[in-house]
Amino acid sequence: MINNFTIDKILNHRSIRKFKNQPLSKDQLTTIYTVAQHTPTSMFMQNFSILHITDQDQKAKIRKLAGQKYVGAEGDLFIFLADLYRNQQIREQLGVDDGRVHTTDIFLQAMEDTLLAFQNVANAVESMDLGYVPLGVINDHPMQMLEALDLPKLVFPVLGMQVGTPDQHPQLKPRLPLEFTCFEGKYNKDFDVKELRNYDKVVTTYYDLRDSNRRIDSFTKQITGAKLENHETDRDQIPMVLQKQGLCLDWK
Ligand SMILES: Cc1cc2nc3c(=O)[nH]c(=O)nc-3n(C[C@H](O)[C@H](O)[C@H](O)COP(=O)(O)O)c2cc1C
Repeated sequence: MINNFTIDKILNHRSIRKFKNQPLSKDQLTTIYTVAQHTPTSMFMQNFSILHITDQDQKAKIRKLAGQKYVGAEGDLFIFLADLYRNQQIREQLGVDDGRVHTTDIFLQAMEDTLLAFQNVANAVESMDLGYVPLGVINDHPMQMLEALDLPKLVFPVLGMQVGTPDQHPQLKPRLPLEFTCFEGKYNKDFDVKELRNYDKVVTTYYDLRDSNRRIDSFTKQITGAKLENHETDRDQIPMVLQKQGLCLDWK
């Protein structure tokens, strides 16, 4: 196993949910944008954008929809957008039709661009001794979030990121052992849940010993529980929101 600064930072990742009241400096902000700009991009289409939320009322609106108190609170809030509007506008303004802009394929490529930019920024953030938490929760009420963000058609908010100077140091969250997630040459279809017994013990110990929100919990308990069952949010509106945005129109 090789160790260097980059790998060490990645292996020590933990999501941060408590930040000091200290906004990002101009240099940090420029660094974040420039790192995102240099991310690989599918077919060189550059189908993503980043929206930095700066208005306090808008932050409060987003926090309310997200239902998590750290969203738009201390630190800085960014929304990572899968963005086909710009390229559609290029086509329209140069007199050609929308081509494949409205297809699922092109939307997924925009998602790929957006998520790679997100993770590049995430790694850069941690390299600057800042912390972040990804915010999938921004799509718990996707129709209202679209309005709150005032986005045009062909733009979809994929993930939020709350970034700032950490005001906590959570324990590392244990991941699945590599044998379950990384395969050499052939996918292992002979998965047996009993093999997760040890990992379940590790996860249970983590929840039992961690500083905040201690509980008795295991990985298989989480997966067989509420996470993959009915959700009391509007997330089932997501396909509708995509179509409203003119995305994935070929998906029946
Ligand atoms: C796509 C994605 C969405 C997430 N959404 C949220 C979120 O809305 N709120 C939150 O507090 N954490 C969110 N997280 C953070 C995860 O809960 C966290 O990564 C996971 O529990 C592992 O913990 P760690 O990041 O500290 O290692 C999200 C993570 C990912 C990758």
